[in-house]
Amino acid sequence: MTHAVCPGSFDPPTLGHLDVIGRAAGLFDRVTVAVLVNPDKKGMFSIEERLELLRSTTSQWPNVTADSFHGLLVDYCAANGIAAIVKGIRAVSDFDYELQMAQMNHGLTGVETLFLPTSPAYSFVSSSLVKQVANYGGDVAHLLPDVVAAALADKITTAGR
Ligand code: PNS
Repeated sequence: MTHAVCPGSFDPPTLGHLDVIGRAAGLFDRVTVAVLVNPDKKGMFSIEERLELLRSTTSQWPNVTADSFHGLLVDYCAANGIAAIVKGIRAVSDFDYELQMAQMNHGLTGVETLFLPTSPAYSFVSSSLVKQVANYGGDVAHLLPDVVAAALADKITTAGR
């Protein structure tokens, strides 16, 4: 049984993330979307909220589950029998850092990293840019699953009160 992980912050998940997760689901028997718990970085969405959004937006793929982790990704992979990390590459600018991490991770435990070029439709999409634009009143709904767009609008309305 092949088991891969799609790791990230997912604060919040975008259609770019979903594109990569869905394609990974077609390549592996099982895919875990793993949300990094970073105590140094307070996100807009709590870890539980991100997991809930991921679970509802990946429900069309029965072999995809969502989980959270802290510490090293390689340790999470070893503890869960995961042999491959799947990362989306949006542009050449992503590649430098992703290559460094892939080589470091492989050197640590031998875990492999596979890069999927993201769909060109989402090559400019990042969670941080989406939040920034939405915070200033821009429309980003077309870059997000409906449930995420609604949750983001809700966050911004609540913060503005
Ligand atoms: O969505 P992001 O923030 O780009 O995801 C980055 C992530 C979570 C994949 C990366 O920061 C990570 O793997 N963090 C876990 C800690 C770790 O293993 N660090 C060493 C990387 S070589």
